[in-house]
Amino acid sequence: MKLNAKFISSYDDYKKCPENSLPEYAFIGRSNVGKSSLINAITGVKNLAMTSSKPGKTQLINMFNIEDAWVLVDLPGYGFAKSSQSSRIKWGQMVHDYLKNREKLTNVFLLVDSRHEPLKNDLEQITWLASNGIPFSLVFTKVDKQSITQTNKILATWNKVLGEDWEELPKTFTTSSESGKGKDELLTYINEINQQISKLK
Ligand code: GTP
Ligand code: MG
Repeated sequence: MKLNAKFISSYDDYKKCPENSLPEYAFIGRSNVGKSSLINAITGVKNLAMTSSKPGKTQLINMFNIEDAWVLVDLPGYGFAKSSQSSRIKWGQMVHDYLKNREKLTNVFLLVDSRHEPLKNDLEQITWLASNGIPFSLVFTKVDKQSITQTNKILATWNKVLGEDWEELPKTFTTSSESGKGKDELLTYINEINQQISKLK
């Protein structure tokens, strides 16, 4: 299925992002985890978001209008070892300012690589999101790269680690941009939230 998805524009500051009345959803996660690829996979529009095998491809806040009903936001990744300290600080400011201040931000999808046990970086982002009261879900990417057994093993580790700090675990999705796995579940989740919002209006 192909959605009606249009690139709005790129911004280097949330203050420059256009005012909008539509619910907004953002993808965050380490560089190279597959944020831009998953945006292309869920919309069914091949080159909507630019991807690269090298980390550090997405540098700005990229906004996409989806079906004139919601906005999808692709963000630069964190944890890119080669980036300078000053650009890492800039990342933190640009992305965190956006996440904290964007009024219509409805849910954040934090993407993590399904092949890795929880990384310090990812756990720090979770703590940051929770302490700022920003609703988020956890999205495991690239499940096509390993067996289901291996993915389940990693998921169990995540549950254990998060269970040590949090009473409630975030909603999780297991996805692959290659096979399309998890795409429908993500879209259904977003549509359900959108419906709840429109009922409240
Ligand atoms: P930054 O923009 O640098 O933060 O990276 P990103 O998170 O947007 O990653 P991107 O979507 O550009 O993907 C990085 C690399 O991973 C590319 O080579 C993709 O083809 C590959 N990739 C992404 N998702 C998948 C997946 O589900 N399966 C496989 N096998 N490869 C994937
Ligand atoms: Mg990207």
